[in-house]
Amino acid sequence: MTDSFLLIKLVHVLSATLLFGTGLGTAFFMWRCYRSNDLAAIAVVTRDVVLADTMFTMPAIIIQPVSGYLMIEYMGYSLYTPWIIWSFGLYLFIGACWLPVVWLQVKMRDMAAVAVENNEVLPETFGVYFRIWTRLGYPAFICMLIIFALMVFRPL
Ligand code: HEM
Repeated sequence: MTDSFLLIKLVHVLSATLLFGTGLGTAFFMWRCYRSNDLAAIAVVTRDVVLADTMFTMPAIIIQPVSGYLMIEYMGYSLYTPWIIWSFGLYLFIGACWLPVVWLQVKMRDMAAVAVENNEVLPETFGVYFRIWTRLGYPAFICMLIIFALMVFRPL
């Protein structure tokens, strides 16, 4: 294995860490601040979760399949290898969960900012959006774990 392959693999693993870590971290803080019922905290956290997704998740989302593809080419794997098909499929599914999550986050951030500015309570929609946001996170999290396992075991 040459240095360039290992360098791509390093980027791939670092990007996986960023993707998984940011997802879990932002979910934890969103959940904790929502449970706190502290409007000021909710406004700050929702704002920074949107920022973290833009700074960390977005680039990692692109780097992950690109670096994966480069390694596939390098290793001469067939694109029809089952673990690779599953990885791409699950990755697309995660992306399909993540896109509405981004939209919901932006809406929640805006609702919290308006509530703080006008000294109001959060609208009921915030709670509805938060529940959908959480429910989209569970399958995405599980699929991410499955992809990690596929990458390490490469079973088929
Ligand atoms: C998007 C599609 C993806 C493709 C096509 C892909 C492809 C690959 C390939 C070809 C390797 C190197 C296998 C080898 O050394 O022979 C690899 C390794 C790895 N991938 Fe992915 N990957 C993808 C997504 C992900 C995701 C989403 C994660 C985790 C969040 C991930 C985590 C890892 C890890 C940790 C390794 C190192 C495994 C090891 O060396 O034992 N990959 N990936």
